[in-house]
Amino acid sequence: MKNATRLCSTKPIVTINGNFPGPTIYAREDDTVLVKVVNHVKYNVSIHWHGIRQLRTGWADGPAYITQCPIQPGQVYMYNFTLTGQRGTLWWHAHILWLRATVHGAIVILPKLGVPYPFPKPHMEQVLILSEWWKSDTEAIINEALKSGMAPNVSDAHTINGHPGPVQHCASQEGFKLQVEQGKTYLLRIINAALNEDLFFKIAGHKLTVVEVDATYTKPFTTDTIVITPGQTTNVLLKTNHAFGKFMVAASTFMDAPIAIDNVTATATLHYSNTLGSTITKLTSLPPINSTKIANNFTDSLKSLNSQKYPALVPKKIDRSLFFTVSLGLNPCASCVNGNRVVAAINNVTFVMPKISLLQAHFFNISGIFTDDFPKKPEIVYDFAGKKQPTNLGTNRGTRVYRLAYNSTVQLVLQDTGMIAPENHPIHLHGFNFFVVGRGQGNFNAKRDSKKFNLVDPVERNTVGVPSGGWTAIRFRADNPGVWFMHCHLEVHTTWGLKMAFVVDNGKGPNESLIPPPSDFPKC
Ligand code: C2O
Repeated sequence: MKNATRLCSTKPIVTINGNFPGPTIYAREDDTVLVKVVNHVKYNVSIHWHGIRQLRTGWADGPAYITQCPIQPGQVYMYNFTLTGQRGTLWWHAHILWLRATVHGAIVILPKLGVPYPFPKPHMEQVLILSEWWKSDTEAIINEALKSGMAPNVSDAHTINGHPGPVQHCASQEGFKLQVEQGKTYLLRIINAALNEDLFFKIAGHKLTVVEVDATYTKPFTTDTIVITPGQTTNVLLKTNHAFGKFMVAASTFMDAPIAIDNVTATATLHYSNTLGSTITKLTSLPPINSTKIANNFTDSLKSLNSQKYPALVPKKIDRSLFFTVSLGLNPCASCVNGNRVVAAINNVTFVMPKISLLQAHFFNISGIFTDDFPKKPEIVYDFAGKKQPTNLGTNRGTRVYRLAYNSTVQLVLQDTGMIAPENHPIHLHGFNFFVVGRGQGNFNAKRDSKKFNLVDPVERNTVGVPSGGWTAIRFRADNPGVWFMHCHLEVHTTWGLKMAFVVDNGKGPNESLIPPPSDFPKC
């Protein structure tokens, strides 16, 4: 724990090696990475390497009670994994309680030595981590919310590389400063590490060229504003085509649902060398919070690079077609403020965390931990995206998983519902990248909508926003044996149960099975 002061108030936070945000891990494609995690705090911890595929090494994936038991106070665990065929910006974060609020950092995977980027070589690279800050202790906030059954407090500010920048009532804090030279190209590696908010990001007086998302190359396109959900990463090229000056770098919430949010814009400064300290910073304004059009334009512009060297291997023939609804719901709770607690669910199943990890239960054949009967489609059908609520807002509780054969191809349509409130849900799948073959508003209609799927150059990623009152269709190949978590990356929704897991069985080939756990694997 370490004291940190933001917004003119101080609180103890959990840090990694004393840093917030935590240290950046630099590696190259195909490197093996060893990270020794020593728990010096009073909480159980576990660390997830978000977007790293963990081919056959699910024991190092990190989500507590899904692939491992937590690392208890005083204990040590060595994460050991290989970055097979992966390069780009990813990130790591705590995957237990709400510790990822302050326990997170970047992973920068460079291409193999001698392999260039498929875009102009940048003069310099910079990681920009967007996040949120609460004045109070985040564990206390979520615990109180769970007790009352209501939504937790929203954050007090956003941050860029750990700093909100000057804000009302606390102007004393300087924001992050990015020093640049005129006439150069910079590669910005942007990460949304916020707990609960999709963000807009913009730099005054400059355009941004998107070249990569979630560690996969994209067709370059130029934009004023990027949109990024929690869990996602976006690499952009920035051309410093001014002679001098100071320019505002800004991040603020995107949300097109009528709910409370943190409305504070985080700011940093792009500072050209040769600029006098007294120069006024050129300001920028971000799109209004509910600018769905701008968000959609951005999302629709994302396409895989799909070059000869980096082809988009979209599964064309599908073995399993799944349809999952993502929604909020209500469960009875006698001690709660309204006699109900807010929960969240996939196909109306509110996931219940097991007592030992699913991966152990799967590998060692321990019965009674989970059942493999997760529904492949909703058990109750209604007008999902409609204004009318279904009569029953309840959900079923269970630790149910969906089983996939090794190397099978999967199409999954994720449908947001209007139950309680329609909302964007950034859905993250562990262990895989997937292709986003389609998205749209309203109810998914297989006959009409699947005709329009992009099977040529859809964007490839590990986290995708299911639009408020709409749907997203993804495809992936189940070529990674193990247990793989899928959940909403809004931490509040994960806590409420918007999560499930896939079990991928071993294949028959020599390199198609999960390897056994390491000897220091934590015990529950
Ligand atoms: Cu970035 Cu399961 O998380």
